[in-house]
Amino acid sequence: MKFFIDTADVAEIADLASSGLVDGVTTNPSLIAKSGRNFLEAGREICALVPGPVSAEVTAVHLDGMLAEGRKLAKLAPNVCVKLPLTWDGLKACRALADEGTLVNVTLCFQAGQALLAAKAGATFISPFVGRLDDIGQEGMQLISDIVEIYRNYPATLRTEVLVASARGVNHVIEAARLGAHVVTVPPKVLRDLALHPMTDKGLAAFLKDWEATGQRIL
Ligand code: E4P
Repeated sequence: MKFFIDTADVAEIADLASSGLVDGVTTNPSLIAKSGRNFLEAGREICALVPGPVSAEVTAVHLDGMLAEGRKLAKLAPNVCVKLPLTWDGLKACRALADEGTLVNVTLCFQAGQALLAAKAGATFISPFVGRLDDIGQEGMQLISDIVEIYRNYPATLRTEVLVASARGVNHVIEAARLGAHVVTVPPKVLRDLALHPMTDKGLAAFLKDWEATGQRIL
């Protein structure tokens, strides 16, 4: 399973990427606004920090604008993945950009039929938003289960990877992995939280106390 981080904070990405555990990055216009950075500059910097795809989202809402913005973003670096909203124009732009060899992440997916269309349109990734579905009282993870099942029925033609987005905590990550999603994108805190357990801290403290009592040193 691939781990992407969902942030436009370049320092945070650099820190986490040094762990070797980060496969890519997702950004969106809200995350860019939160970072206070120039989108194109930050995008270039992020692309240099991680080996894998960096999703950069268009803000145009009509086909021509999406294509123009997508082509400009695609030139930022070889690992840019153009992010397009799941609208009719977004799907048409997806088909065109995918045919040009550009990586495409189709975002704001909230039902399985949308995911089917994105795969038909040649998307590299589909981003179903689990946390936002949970927020409105629906079962976000059921959508992941449905999409994974549907794509698995057509392995020769639907090659889009399921990128679990809007993941809010460790349980979303574990459940996404259980269901066989290809990728999960998480805020930096969630990636760090994955390493934590109070029993790990307690066990380590006990080991170190006992080791200290031996008076030995390894180095
Ligand atoms: C990632 O591609 C999405 O934009 C992001 O995960 C949305 O997360 P949120 O619902 O927590 O804003």
